[in-house]
Amino acid sequence: MLAKSLFLAFTALVGAQKFAEVCTIPGPSCSVKNSTDTCCVSYYGTITFSHMWLANRGRPDQFTIHGMWPNRCDWSYLNEGCDLSRNYTGAGDIVKARNPSLYKTMLRDWPSSDGDFSSFWDHEWNKHGTCYDPAAPKCLADYQKYDDLLMYYEVTHQIYSKYNMYNILASSGIVPGFNYTRSSMEAAILKNSGLISKVRCDSAGNLSEIYSYFYISGQTDFIPTTPVYNPTDCLNIYYPKKSVSPKCQ
Ligand SMILES: *[C@@H]1O[C@H](CO)[C@@H](O)[C@H](O)[C@H]1NC(C)=O
Ligand SMILES: *[C@@H]1O[C@H](CO)[C@@H](O)[C@H](O)[C@H]1NC(C)=O
Ligand SMILES: *[C@@H]1O[C@H](CO)[C@@H](O)[C@H](O)[C@H]1NC(C)=O
Ligand SMILES: *[C@@H]1O[C@H](CO)[C@@H](O)[C@H](O)[C@H]1NC(C)=O
Repeated sequence: MLAKSLFLAFTALVGAQKFAEVCTIPGPSCSVKNSTDTCCVSYYGTITFSHMWLANRGRPDQFTIHGMWPNRCDWSYLNEGCDLSRNYTGAGDIVKARNPSLYKTMLRDWPSSDGDFSSFWDHEWNKHGTCYDPAAPKCLADYQKYDDLLMYYEVTHQIYSKYNMYNILASSGIVPGFNYTRSSMEAAILKNSGLISKVRCDSAGNLSEIYSYFYISGQTDFIPTTPVYNPTDCLNIYYPKKSVSPKCQ
C-alpha cells in the first residue's frame, strides 16, 4: 500500500510540464497576424511533420518519427534553431531521468538511422524544437530546465500517435513489398486521414519519409493544411519491407 502511494506520487511528478495559459484564440497560427501572445499564436506557425520509413529500425509495421519542424509563416525553413540559449546536449539521459515512460516510447518510435538516438534527439530539439513557440519557458507553468524539451517531444509523439501512417496507407491496400505511384499514396493519405502529404524517396526510389503540413491552433491542436511545396521526383516509389525482426522490438 505504501509502495503503491509512493509510486503514484512519483508518477505524478514525471511528465508534469504544463502550459501556463489556457488559450482562447481567434484562429490558427499565421491567420492571426502580429499577435504578441506567441505562447498561444505561434510566431513560427507552419509545421512540417515527418514520418520516417527506416528499413532497419523501429517496429516492422510502423513508421517512425523524424521530427516536428516549425517554420515561418511564408513556409521558408528555419535552419539553425531559434534559441541558442536552449541548445541542449544529452537528450537521452535527460528524458530517461525525467520521464522514463516517454524515454521507452521514444526508443521505440523515434530511432535514428545510425543508432545514436540521443544525438538525433538533441539535433531535432536544437534545430527545430527551439522554434516550437508554445514550449518556450515563459509559456510553461512552474518552468524547470528541460520542461521545454520534454514538452516538444511529448507533443511531437502525440501527432505521431494521432496519425498512424502505416494504417492510413494500409486502409487503401498500400503495404510494404510493392511499388506505388506517389500520387496514389498521397491520395490515399488524404482520403484516409485528411492530411495533405508529400511522399519522399531516396536516390534508389525507395520510400524514405512522408511530410505532412499543419498550422497550430493554440498549443497542441495541429490543423492540416496545404504546403507550398511541389516536388517533381519520386513519381514511382518502392515501399520496402523492413528488415527488423519483431522479436527484437
Ligand atoms: C504586422 O507587422 C508588420 C511588420 O511590422 C506590418 O507591416 C503589418 O502591417 C502588421 N500587420 C497587421 C495586421 O498589423
Ligand atoms: C547546438 O547543438 C548542436 C547539437 O545538437 C551542436 O552541433 C551545435 O554546435 C550546438 N550549437 C551551439 C552554438 O552550441
Ligand atoms: C518496383 O519497380 C522497380 C523499378 O521499376 C523494379 O525493378 C522492381 O522489380 C519493382 N518491384 C516490384 C515488387 O514490383
Ligand atoms: C531499396 O530497397 C530494396 C528492397 O528492400 C533493397 O534491396 C535496396 O537495398 C534498397 N535500396 C536502398 C538504397 O536503400
